[in-house]
Amino acid sequence: MLATDTLIVTPGPTEIPHRILLAMARRTTNPDLDPEFFRRYDEARSMLAEMLGTKRNNIIIWVGEAMSGLEAAIANLVRSGDKVAVLSNGIFGDAFADLVTAYGGVPIIHRVEYTKVLDPDKVISFLRGEARDARVVTMVHCETPSGTLNGLKELARAVKSEGKLLIVDAVSSIGGMEIDVKWGVDILIGGSQKVLNLPSGLTILAVSDELGKPWRGSITGGST
Ligand SMILES: Cc1ncc(COP(=O)(O)O)c(C=O)c1O
Repeated sequence: MLATDTLIVTPGPTEIPHRILLAMARRTTNPDLDPEFFRRYDEARSMLAEMLGTKRNNIIIWVGEAMSGLEAAIANLVRSGDKVAVLSNGIFGDAFADLVTAYGGVPIIHRVEYTKVLDPDKVISFLRGEARDARVVTMVHCETPSGTLNGLKELARAVKSEGKLLIVDAVSSIGGMEIDVKWGVDILIGGSQKVLNLPSGLTILAVSDELGKPWRGSITGGST
């Protein structure tokens, strides 16, 4: 039972349960210096890691709307002139194309009607054909406005079979659907304001073991 005043039946931002509002009223600690902050931060990262089938040190949480997570993924993986395979069946899929262009890349778009899911076989043909030079692939797990849910496990397998890096927007599915980063996701982006019932404004980002290597352990120490 969420115990909220109203029940909003949309994919989010969702109504925030009272117990979360009350928790937010507690005294805050200094995130620069206070060991208590790091303890809580690591606790949240451990829970998210368990939920996403990865390790704590492959998770980052930062203050910033989830769009900043999509942007960070593109900013870090796309260089000027890079071709990027954009799989899209909705507005958030298309948003990746805009970000690729903003960072000097060239989006090659595989577009499907917003009422249809992405088909792994057609994606493989696209990645072998028009998008063969792309190193990075982007997709949205759940297209929020239509509620269209793409088969992440099968699509990740298809993208990996072509040896490419996969960025996934899981903003409106994180916490509500089974997601395992080990299926073949290199960067997964989640938001706080949908299934997790928190206020807007936190981005959750999970990276694969391979992409996590350069910075593992550098945020709060530890090896898991
Ligand atoms: C699938 C998806 N991606 C990205 C976003 C952007 O999230 P934010 O508004 O926190 O930037 C949303 C928000 O509705 C979304 O539903």
